[in-house]
Amino acid sequence: MATDLPPTFPDCTVTEFAPAKINLTLHVTGQRADGYHLLDSLVVFADVGDRVTVRAAKALALTITGPQAAALPVTDDNLVLRAARLMQGHAAITLEKALPVSSGIGGGSADAAATLRALARLMDLPLPEDSAVLRLGADVPVCLLGRAVRMQGVGERLTPVPDLPQAWLVLVNPGVAVATPEVFRRLASKDNPAMPPQISPFPTLEGFVACLQTMRNDMEDAATAIAPVIGAVRSALSAQPGCLLSRMSGSGATCFGLFAAQDSARAAARAIQSAQPRWWVAPARMLS
Ligand code: C5P
Repeated sequence: MATDLPPTFPDCTVTEFAPAKINLTLHVTGQRADGYHLLDSLVVFADVGDRVTVRAAKALALTITGPQAAALPVTDDNLVLRAARLMQGHAAITLEKALPVSSGIGGGSADAAATLRALARLMDLPLPEDSAVLRLGADVPVCLLGRAVRMQGVGERLTPVPDLPQAWLVLVNPGVAVATPEVFRRLASKDNPAMPPQISPFPTLEGFVACLQTMRNDMEDAATAIAPVIGAVRSALSAQPGCLLSRMSGSGATCFGLFAAQDSARAAARAIQSAQPRWWVAPARMLS
């Protein structure tokens, strides 16, 4: 969470939370001439994520810590460093990596967005313009907004979706990294129907779930063909008492289950984790 330290104090550190991004739906509706795909997606966030801490320094440096650090070597093209260069930020940055990498829940994009927010606060600067943020990655604009939205275009058209009902999530990743471009390449169709023009309001959780059930993740079949274990993750989630809906997020392999009650989400997470000790399993509150 954000600290309350004043941004201009020389020894100041600023920490920003980088929440997991969940595509509750993900329709692939076309492809642009430059190869990027047109999407129509309902995006929410979860209260699990990475943390980015920045401190003023003479040169830009990145240290990665946390339970998923081993999966992410520090390279020059790390999204945190690319975001920091965009802000011309000379800062010592620590990324505490809790989210699995290349897993469909926007970890790298969330880290880039948190870096922009943290450096803007540290240096008391405005955020970069929208087109520069989009160039960092198609999911960075939505992560910078950090609230429930309908995401269209290649990721740049963001329409807030207010007043979602309270819900709980269980996120499950089987430890297989799935490369997004490969999933796009394997899509059976790149020209699928969009979501209905009007998708809210959702006065009840039942109505919300019923609406979500009429929609899809168009990348799920292609991702499952690459990583068949995604099918087992979906089955494990949907077998849990109280699971109202399960689906893959983004290009996978992370899947989510949606629950009405925190207790049933926690019980489901415990059951899946004890059956599959090597999977990454996280119960979370849906942030909207
Ligand atoms: O923008 P980002 O670097 O996150 O995207 C990773 C890859 O996913 C892109 O290089 C592109 O191949 C594919 N992509 C796409 N259409 C989108 C978003 C991503 O084809 N809307």
